[in-house]
Amino acid sequence: MEYSDKVMDHFMNPRNVGVIEDADGVGRTGNPVCGDLMEMSVKIDEDVISDIKFRTFGCGAAIATSSMATELIKGKAIDEALEITNRAIAEALDGLPPIKMHCSVLAAEALRASLADYYRRQGKLEMAADLLKEDVVEPAESEEAQEPLQWDDFARMVRALNSAYPDLEPLDLTMTKVFKLILQLPGFDDDPDAVGEDHLEKLQMAWHEVRSA
Ligand code: FES
Repeated sequence: MEYSDKVMDHFMNPRNVGVIEDADGVGRTGNPVCGDLMEMSVKIDEDVISDIKFRTFGCGAAIATSSMATELIKGKAIDEALEITNRAIAEALDGLPPIKMHCSVLAAEALRASLADYYRRQGKLEMAADLLKEDVVEPAESEEAQEPLQWDDFARMVRALNSAYPDLEPLDLTMTKVFKLILQLPGFDDDPDAVGEDHLEKLQMAWHEVRSA
């Protein structure tokens, strides 16, 4: 797999690693499918993120994207920081192999969790809840999504995802989200635990390719 020089630099020398001891907010997120964990701690001064640190048990792409994310976020107002997309992070790294794009979503999720913790500590519970709200996407009516689907039905599962979720861009989703979307397909009929990270990554990529065709 080809990584840019910038990805390699941020992987080998990650910036802003660690924990802020007197943080104003700490957030964690995880990817139960690949087992990766991400934690971010933030220091806030008058709505500006004056300091941010992360630590992760993540893959190389997760380390590099989080490192770059902290560089882009530090010094930004909260609202501005929340607008930084995983694509912007990948672009700042001169690109990421598409199959690793899902790793870049973890940093954004951990940032939201840390800001939600900050608002919670401030007693702003509604703002905290807003940040943690998960967009629930129901599958659209589609014949392909109704057919019985097992993990081995690779091509059919990709077609089912593509027709059931026409508004989603697969590469902007965490692996956990892809996993949940598959379990939601009306025809899904297999053991949810009988799938590994590799298989989900391949499904996500194939879905992206069908979507972009
Ligand atoms: S974050 Fe799990 S494979 Fe990259």
